[in-house]
Amino acid sequence: MNYDKKKICVVGSGHVGLVCAATFAQMGHVVICIDNDKKKINLLKKSVLPFYEPGLKQLVVKNINKNLVFSASLDEGIKKSDIIFIAVGTPPLPDGSADLTSVETVARAIARNLNRYKLVIEKSTVPVQTGQKIKETIHRYRKNSTQFDVASNPEFLREGKAVEDSFAPDRIVIGVESQRAERILRELYAPLGVPIIASDINTAEIIKHASNSFLATKISFINAVSRICDLTGADVEKVALAMGLDKRIGKQFLQAGIGYGGFCFPKDIEAFIYISKKLGYDFGLLKEVKRINDEQRACFVEKVKERLWVLKGKKIAVLGLSFKPDTDDMRFAPSIDIIDAFLKDGAKLSLFDPASQKNAKLLFKNKRVQFAAGLYAAIKGCDCLCFLTEWHEFKKLDFKKIKLLMANPLIADGRNMFDGEKLRKLGFEYIGMGK
Ligand code: UDX
Repeated sequence: MNYDKKKICVVGSGHVGLVCAATFAQMGHVVICIDNDKKKINLLKKSVLPFYEPGLKQLVVKNINKNLVFSASLDEGIKKSDIIFIAVGTPPLPDGSADLTSVETVARAIARNLNRYKLVIEKSTVPVQTGQKIKETIHRYRKNSTQFDVASNPEFLREGKAVEDSFAPDRIVIGVESQRAERILRELYAPLGVPIIASDINTAEIIKHASNSFLATKISFINAVSRICDLTGADVEKVALAMGLDKRIGKQFLQAGIGYGGFCFPKDIEAFIYISKKLGYDFGLLKEVKRINDEQRACFVEKVKERLWVLKGKKIAVLGLSFKPDTDDMRFAPSIDIIDAFLKDGAKLSLFDPASQKNAKLLFKNKRVQFAAGLYAAIKGCDCLCFLTEWHEFKKLDFKKIKLLMANPLIADGRNMFDGEKLRKLGFEYIGMGK
């Protein structure tokens, strides 16, 4: 097989776009990464990344101005490329549907700049049948009869592990309508040496919906089980361990806690519920997945209230604000609702996160919260210490020191990171989720 250098344009420099651009540049292709945010592009030109993602900056630094360039000119990017990845944002609208305005804008720009055959690939998470709409849009607005293909190539990367996932994914999914498109995509991904599943475009789009929804369902399932464990004194961690050893179930995504957050699962579940309804199917199971997930946050707050009785005037330290470790992403983080609930009851909050403090400060700028300079500073004098993200550094904390710092030794572990028995032996009162 011939691994020619390809001319690739990646539209969108968010988590998906930037990682995709850096990966293809590292694989030796010529990549133009586009964003309409000029400020962001100017910073990227200096290798300043808009978000924290382990290993990504190094990749950008290694390839920038060689085979990776950043530009705010969509027209230029499209004209110069043979392969265009659409990786723009598809944010949720109030009714749960995805806002596809940016995707449409890019499709129209492609139609305007169709100077030679192009393969247009949707990489953003989009509702099923978006590929069809992209195709119709390009047909409608193109000024000549130049050929093009549309394909779907959903992205499965996880924030915090995005670079690793991009070079070693479990599988690559390509939704194609022509042999030419399939050949180009197979060639592009062949060096990764991972299974490639080819299908029609609708199927590829549904694979993405179904994968994210299934993972979220696993999380809500174990969270529902954790409630039964709470009611019976059983241990959800043991339940999950034993369940996970059954290969048909698998160990991953059975970590009970305050539930999922982030920019993918919450909006993707909403979007799948919405699109299913629009197609004529009521996806009740997913509504329940969402309900259970929301309830976990409220359940955590109730557990703290049960122990502290009155929250008014009490100091609560919250460690971990991002929706998961190794990211500074605060979008739809469970910490937001939990902090709001504590504030509503009049608690005084001291917050700390190793990476998302800057984003959290912006988000909470009108809230009565204090940000601490460090872990132990956050804990000093608190009546309850809450862990909401399982950052690695939290696992190495000195709990003897913590006990001396706290006004009341109550630990609420929203991610089941600690051995409750060990902490109880050290004199703490320990709250876990289903254990
Ligand atoms: C997810 C999908 O994993 C990825 O394939 C897709 O491309 C984008 O959405 P991401 O949002 O980065 O990735 O995070 P992920 O690691 O999947 O975690 C999502 C949320 O679920 C986090 O809030 C995490 O804390 C929570 N989670 C995960 C649990 O509560 N329990 C688990 O067992 C696993």
